[in-house]
Amino acid sequence: VSDMLIDGFGRMHTYLRISLTERCNLRCHYCMPAEGVELTPPPQLLSHHEILRLANLFVTSGVDKIRLTGGEPTLRKDIQDICLNLSALKGLKTLAITTNGITLARKLPMLKQCGVTALNISLDTLVPAKFEFLTRRKGHQRVMDSINAAIDFGYNPVKVNCVVMRGLNDDEMCDFVNLTRDKPINIRFIEFMPFDGNVWNVKKLVPYSEMLDTVSKQFPSLKRLHDHPTETAKNFKIDGYMGTVSFITSMTEHFCAGCNRLRLLADGNFKVCLFGPSEVSLRDPLRCGVGDEELREIIGAAVKRKKASHAGMFEISKTANRPMIHIGG
Ligand code: GTP
Ligand code: 5AD
Ligand code: SF4
Repeated sequence: VSDMLIDGFGRMHTYLRISLTERCNLRCHYCMPAEGVELTPPPQLLSHHEILRLANLFVTSGVDKIRLTGGEPTLRKDIQDICLNLSALKGLKTLAITTNGITLARKLPMLKQCGVTALNISLDTLVPAKFEFLTRRKGHQRVMDSINAAIDFGYNPVKVNCVVMRGLNDDEMCDFVNLTRDKPINIRFIEFMPFDGNVWNVKKLVPYSEMLDTVSKQFPSLKRLHDHPTETAKNFKIDGYMGTVSFITSMTEHFCAGCNRLRLLADGNFKVCLFGPSEVSLRDPLRCGVGDEELREIIGAAVKRKKASHAGMFEISKTANRPMIHIGG
């Protein structure tokens, strides 16, 4: 791994998350306000060519995993070419997508063929009416169909991201766990995090300890698995179940010490921490015609400024950041 990707704490950043678009076909409360967000004018978004140039720079420096996010990444018109070209980068081991699953079933054959190796699908409820409330749109059955299609296409595990919010979907945790009995699903219960415009409130956060309690009461054989040190998730398994259960504890037990993630936003800004408000544009120097060496310096300097960890949930909730839809998780 090149020095460019190593921060002041020795963390090696080999995982790049690229947001392909700020647009989305859902309007989830935890991600954006009802009125939506201001969109970057299209000419100011990274082009396919610019994404490739930057991705190539990162991969030749040691990044071996790229995750495409958004907005909803599958809405990007040139996603097919982007995936084809990214998956061809020498040294890249994983090309993953985080998607809301609304149009995934239809696009799966294409994505699989273009080298997408892993899929994380967001689903916060198993109740169609609640889905409509949480996402302000219809489409519950389509997401369910996409999860099943992803399984049929051989993705294993299919990760299902569920943001747990008190009084909204915390009563459904055990129903989600039951999905893992006969299917290669990894259900991931995520602590609700504050972002601009999502009306975060600590009362809506269900802490890891409480989520774990709820699940282990109903499933006493729940056992902790060994997690990779760079993972966001704490992983568990239930005796005899095909899938697994995980918790993403960003708020009450952050995992920053093992962080290996960097972010490239759709507008070309580079972000070294999900909660760090500081951003540096890679698009502007790119469009001024700078060479790879200079880009490496800009990236390396930003990585070196990365903090040991985020500032804690109350601090984060008061600090201006972007709305989640701009960052992509
Ligand atoms: P894998 O690569 O499959 O492990 O997925 P991931 O957890 O890295 O990414 P995903 O897009 O599925 O995100 C799941 C949840 O983890 C979301 O709520 C993300 O916001 C959160 N998450 C992802 N990366 C980070 C991170 O670096 N820090 C924090 N605090 N949360 C993160
Ligand atoms: N808190 C926690 N997770 C969130 N996600 C979106 N907004 C939030 C939030 N406020 C999750 C989505 C998606 C992933 C990229 O981030 O459910 O699966
Ligand atoms: Fe990494 Fe920042 Fe997330 Fe911590 S909060 S894990 S440092 S991106």
